[in-house]
Amino acid sequence: MTRPGTWACITLLLQLSAGVYVPIREYSGQSFFDGWDYYGSIDNTTWGNVTYVDQNTSDAQRLTYVDSTTGHAIIRVDNTTNIAPAPLVNRNTVKITTKDAYPIGSLVTIDVSHIPFGCSVWPSFWMLGTNALWPDAGEIDIIEGINGLTQNQMALHTTPGCGLATNAIQTGHIVQGDCSTAQGCLVQETKPNSFGSAFAQAGGGVFGAQLDVSGIYMWFWPRNSIPQSISEATFSSNMDISDWGTPTAAYPSSGCNITQFFQPQQLVLDITLCGVWAGIPSIYSSTGCSGQCINNVIGSGNPVYNDAYWEISYIRTYLAAADMGPAPTSQKSGLSPSESVDLTPSSTSDSSSSTSTSTSSNDNGNSGTAHASNAALVQSTASISMRGLLGIVLVLELWGRSMIL
Ligand SMILES: *[C@@H]1O[C@H](CO)[C@@H](O)[C@H](O)[C@H]1NC(C)=O
Ligand SMILES: *[C@@H]1O[C@H](CO)[C@@H](O)[C@H](O)[C@H]1NC(C)=O
Ligand SMILES: *[C@@H]1O[C@H](CO)[C@@H](O)[C@H](O)[C@H]1NC(C)=O
Ligand SMILES: *[C@@H]1O[C@H](CO)[C@@H](O)[C@H](O)[C@H]1NC(C)=O
Ligand SMILES: *[C@@H]1O[C@H](CO)[C@@H](O)[C@H](O)[C@H]1NC(C)=O
Repeated sequence: MTRPGTWACITLLLQLSAGVYVPIREYSGQSFFDGWDYYGSIDNTTWGNVTYVDQNTSDAQRLTYVDSTTGHAIIRVDNTTNIAPAPLVNRNTVKITTKDAYPIGSLVTIDVSHIPFGCSVWPSFWMLGTNALWPDAGEIDIIEGINGLTQNQMALHTTPGCGLATNAIQTGHIVQGDCSTAQGCLVQETKPNSFGSAFAQAGGGVFGAQLDVSGIYMWFWPRNSIPQSISEATFSSNMDISDWGTPTAAYPSSGCNITQFFQPQQLVLDITLCGVWAGIPSIYSSTGCSGQCINNVIGSGNPVYNDAYWEISYIRTYLAAADMGPAPTSQKSGLSPSESVDLTPSSTSDSSSSTSTSTSSNDNGNSGTAHASNAALVQSTASISMRGLLGIVLVLELWGRSMIL
């Protein structure tokens, strides 16, 4: 007879070798804004004509709030203050950063119904390694666009030496391959409805990002084609990415040594106006907008910024079960990690101890994960086959014992 406990062990081992992710934290509903810090300063990184307000101002002006009907988080640009022309004008908006930082081995999903859009509007959902000067700890741009662009853009920013591998398997269109350039290694979405008014009209969608020693991978699915693993997920369920398909942007480690260029990443959500991308006159006029960028900022703010808002159902973060490695590191005290973190034996921020997760899906012989079949991953696959083999041996050993017992 087989003891239930033994079956549990076997099940756990099988799960660990199947590329499963364990939930770490969900930002959603009434508690969406609990795990974030507000910037509370002018935009001194992308030089938009905005003030990123502090939390009190944001609450008072309802620039961030949770919609009581939908439970969705709203993050928006002030569209009621009348700003007179002056040498220096700044409109109120928001930039928030998670208190937690997520190491290599993490997975992030975000369900969005509305991404800010319009002339002068520059929204971004991204991740930043903050324990070093930019871009020494790496930056990962998951959602970004400006003005009248209709396609989302994904990118990495690093110091020199990291780039897009030529043999990467991805659906996106490569704009720039070198991650140390001003644009970063930039991949443009090719699926329809990934940005702008069309994204909102199609009901939005889900974006995903996987940070792994074998590579960094990003996905987009419009509302009508979200994979079952995501549409059926709850805040507490594990995530198996084997039905995620080919990523939009794939940065396998053959082109970029992930552990060398990326430190634990904090999530950032912001909206700036004009600045060093959206506001450059030649770019402004070539992305569907006329006149001068600053003339949107000046004036009443409506209707020009009525669509300059994020509407987010949830952001979920996960850690590879196979890793059981570093827990997310809290950058600030006062925020205790969720109960899921207890699954991990230590809470060090040493991301180098993190082991590959896509390798664990390879262990399972699962080619459902697009990048697992990537030729660029052959090397890391080979090196993990040993781990997979050990896992199978262990399972067989337990199986043998259970037969004896
Ligand atoms: C931007 O301003 C904030 C607040 O004054 C400051 O803490 C931060 O170091 C500045 N960042 C840069 C890149 O100058
Ligand atoms: C924000 O509001 C709280 C409570 O009203 C107050 O204690 C705090 O000092 C305010 N912070 C700032 C930066 O104004
Ligand atoms: C807009 O912001 C930029 C960057 O801070 C600044 O150089 C420019 O003078 C501003 N324009 C106006 C009209 O405020
Ligand atoms: C990648 O970087 C890590 C950390 O810097 C280093 O230990 C490792 O040897 C590098 N791997 C390769 C293949 O260069
Ligand atoms: C500001 O924008 C919101 C939608 O984001 C809209 O409901 C509201 O009516 C706008 N305010 C004005 C004064 O137009």
